[in-house]
Amino acid sequence: MGEHFDKALIFTDLHIVSEGETIIGLDPLARFSEGLAHALDRHPDAQHLILLGDLTHTGAQAEYDRLIPVLADCPVPITVTMGNHDTRAILGAAFPGALNADGFAQTALDLGPLRLLVLDTHDDDGQAPLEHDGWLCKTRLAWLDAELARAARDGRDVVVFTHHPPCPVGFWAMDAIGLANADALLDRLHAAPHVKHLICGHIHRTIHASAGGLPVTILKSPCHQNPMILGQGTFADSVDEPGAYGILLALDDTIVVHTEDFALSSGKVQRYK
Ligand SMILES: [Fe+2]
Repeated sequence: MGEHFDKALIFTDLHIVSEGETIIGLDPLARFSEGLAHALDRHPDAQHLILLGDLTHTGAQAEYDRLIPVLADCPVPITVTMGNHDTRAILGAAFPGALNADGFAQTALDLGPLRLLVLDTHDDDGQAPLEHDGWLCKTRLAWLDAELARAARDGRDVVVFTHHPPCPVGFWAMDAIGLANADALLDRLHAAPHVKHLICGHIHRTIHASAGGLPVTILKSPCHQNPMILGQGTFADSVDEPGAYGILLALDDTIVVHTEDFALSSGKVQRYK
């Protein structure tokens, strides 16, 4: 194995707020800025930066307006998708090209031998039963079908990205606002042997799962996290634990997802005796 890594950086659930506002006393813009600087400093060779939804806290124009300058000098190509807290029209205007011809923030990227399929699970028209749960409409599923077929023709293994996980995680309040038509996604992914991994956000916690045999990684927010209170709770319960981002590596036939906490300490590497 050589020294070259095919590498993508992943941030999810930024929850940028308007000037002067905070979330449980935290400044999401400061947290994301710190995390992005941390990631770019250590991984200048990253080929993609993926922002996996909930870029903003309320979907307001002012929130996107604060995020854009932070990304202005990013040397890595940026791919964004929608979370339940985003507003489609405003996100589309803030990130020209983010919405495809169908109007959805769905993108296919190549990373080394992999094809990355970033899906848009935001439910704008209330097809899912609850306000914050996710939905993949027929148009988005048709895009997925076409891209899965194209990846198979190209001989590429696939990593899929969704904001909303399609599986329960044990936090009942979050499970209630998951991907409402999860079976429509999982049926397709289970039927496609070249789909190897699923990466999600939404929960604000590092979680490893297997959804009907498909490995799932759920990444933390760079800002506020979900407290480890299994069972009933409210989805707004949050805790000030370290923020994090994900690092996806394509290593030969192995897919690796690291999660890197930042702002913990000096970050200095020391050798114990
Ligand atoms: Fe979120």
